[in-house]
Amino acid sequence: MTASLGAPAAFPHQPASPDELATALASVGYLADDALATTAYLALDLGRPLFVEGDPGTGKTALALALAESLGAPLIRLQCYEGLRVEQALYDWDFPRQLLHLRVAEATGRAEEVEGELYSRRFLLARPIVEALEQSTAECRSVLLIDEIDRADDEFDAMLLEVLADSSVTIPELGTITAARPPVVVLTSNRTREVHDALKRRCLYAWVDHPSAVRELAIVRSRLPEVADALAQDVVTAVRRLRGMDLVKPPGVSETLDWARSLHALGVRTVDEDSLAATLGAAVKYREDTQRVHELGLMESLIDVGMRRG
Ligand SMILES: Nc1ncnc2c1ncn2[C@@H]1O[C@H](COP(=O)(O)OP(=O)(O)OP(=O)(O)O)[C@@H](O)[C@H]1O
Ligand SMILES: [Mg+2]
Repeated sequence: MTASLGAPAAFPHQPASPDELATALASVGYLADDALATTAYLALDLGRPLFVEGDPGTGKTALALALAESLGAPLIRLQCYEGLRVEQALYDWDFPRQLLHLRVAEATGRAEEVEGELYSRRFLLARPIVEALEQSTAECRSVLLIDEIDRADDEFDAMLLEVLADSSVTIPELGTITAARPPVVVLTSNRTREVHDALKRRCLYAWVDHPSAVRELAIVRSRLPEVADALAQDVVTAVRRLRGMDLVKPPGVSETLDWARSLHALGVRTVDEDSLAATLGAAVKYREDTQRVHELGLMESLIDVGMRRG
């Protein structure tokens, strides 16, 4: 990244290109493909929010965590859910402390004097968005992860639009809190609803797909170095077959890792029909899917894998 002369770097570990960012992410165990590394790099460089969509378990949340870790930036996370209110996303007032302050003042006859103090910064509870603005300093921008935004109601998109527009929040009783530098905002969605167009327009967009076989094998090796290569390979192959079976919930990378972990824990070094069947629950989480897997004969088809290797 080419910071203008004299301006402090935006992060302790500043990547200068998409390749450098990909290397930095890999150094903390996150393997991004070229398209994702480029979009993430541009989001940092252009100061635009990064909107990441994809199926469950494809590494959306992990990307934000890896970005913060590799850049050396503080991570602030807002987990979205239905009914998420402004008080939980932006700020709230510390009512019990305000009351206590007032009671003490009343006891000493200063109630009127302290009224103005009740809505000062010391009684403000910063929730993730305000926290991210306050932690994003001239020396180091913060990373704000707004996870699973599709779970929040769509009024939340409108509120966010305002915050993202100028990296500030106006608190009627207190004034405006503005970040010294805009935080890096990563929004993730599983696409259970469409996020508002106006919000998407402000962001750079990345669709995260299931990884290629080569990348997925590299992910298993990097996350689970204790798992034997042959086992890692078998699990990746098995998961890819499951993904081709039109299941209610195709397995994501998390399931690949869980399946490899489970087989390894049982001391399996190469898979067979029995070990796969016994551990299928690590990868398949719906009864209909389990039935389908048995009907379509995944287990049998995997015996080929063993034969090909052997
Ligand atoms: N490219 C990758 N490199 C390294 N690890 C990865 C990668 N993609 C996914 N993982 C791992 O897979 C697991 C699932 O990732 P994550 O939780 O980020 O998925 P997600 O897309 O946020 O899923 P959900 O939509 O269910 O929240 C994590 O353990 C993560 O570390
Ligand atoms: Mg997630």
